[in-house]
Amino acid sequence: MRVLGIESTCDETAAAVVEADAAGRGKILSNAVLSQIAEHAAYGGVVPEIAARAHIDALDPLIRRALDEAGCTLADIDAVAAAAGPGLIGGVMIGLTMGKAIALATKKPFVAVNHLEGHALTPRLTDGVEFPYLLLLVSGGHSQLISVEGVGEYRRLGSTVDDALGEAFDKAAKLLGLPYPGGPQVEKAAALGDPERFEFPRPMAGRRNPDFSFSGLKTAVRLEAEKIAPLTDQDVFDLCASFQAAAVDVIVDRCRAALRLLAEKPPTALVAAGGVAANGAIRRGLARLCLESGLQLALPPIGLCSDNGAMIAWAGLERFRLGFVDGMDFAARPRWPLDSRQDPRWHGKA
Ligand code: KG4
Ligand code: ZN
Repeated sequence: MRVLGIESTCDETAAAVVEADAAGRGKILSNAVLSQIAEHAAYGGVVPEIAARAHIDALDPLIRRALDEAGCTLADIDAVAAAAGPGLIGGVMIGLTMGKAIALATKKPFVAVNHLEGHALTPRLTDGVEFPYLLLLVSGGHSQLISVEGVGEYRRLGSTVDDALGEAFDKAAKLLGLPYPGGPQVEKAAALGDPERFEFPRPMAGRRNPDFSFSGLKTAVRLEAEKIAPLTDQDVFDLCASFQAAAVDVIVDRCRAALRLLAEKPPTALVAAGGVAANGAIRRGLARLCLESGLQLALPPIGLCSDNGAMIAWAGLERFRLGFVDGMDFAARPRWPLDSRQDPRWHGKA
């Protein structure tokens, strides 16, 4: 079974072809990603209109490239999947409409994929992880701990009450004068700094519910930076290292809280996904936690942590083989919580 996947919910335009063998094991045949970082860098963040226009320019040739690299044509594809949200609505509509158009023209089934489900199911593609597993989803827009109990069966155990973790990394970077996107820059600077020089708060640590809060941590960095300004390079390195150490402690503590909630029916693995899951210090923190709790750890390769088409193709494939297909009337969704028990009109941060 082969599925073409299209992703355009934020600032990456992506298309990929993924297949599953008879035993259900996944294989990536191609994964073409075009990052728009350079187009948004001058503004210090993603500009929705620029993103939408860039998706229009990039998508056609990118889909062709994905098919060519996979060595197939549209005739060899069994279904077309596109991310239908959550994300920036202009971009979502472009990829979604393209996916529907290809499906319609080639008379193939169409599958609308929740972008977060793409992140959530990636470790099944890369590591063949079995349900149920505990998912730490940390990206620019989301920080959640989710019990993944089946395809389409997600139980949210906790989420952020304010900023997402990637957002906190990006904001900390910005106030320290590091370029956008800040997460990888903070990690690089932190490698040269002293994580113990500043004692930043560990928000929510010790609480029973595995929720997150990051805005206080970001504010603590700002206050400290203002106190010691003008900043030397070493100050910036130390601020980044201390910030990152606090973030890692919080993540590990919150995962522990989630594992306690799942004690009666323990997960098969701890899985991390989303752009921030590329962070080496966080990966090492999770590895320590899994070692101490005897849990399997599944960390997708860094290129599959950030947004890509393979994750959409794979989630589409998992849905399609269970018989889920969608109609041409499936509308783009700017908000689309993974946990279906949650009111989709909810406007808080997820
Ligand atoms: O999943 P993603 O590519 O896009 C969203 O769906 O949000 O995540 C992007 C986020 C950005 O906030 C970026 O700064 C952060 O992930 N990020 C990192 C690292 N690489 C990307 N944060 C910390 N350390 C990194 N190495
Ligand atoms: Zn994402």
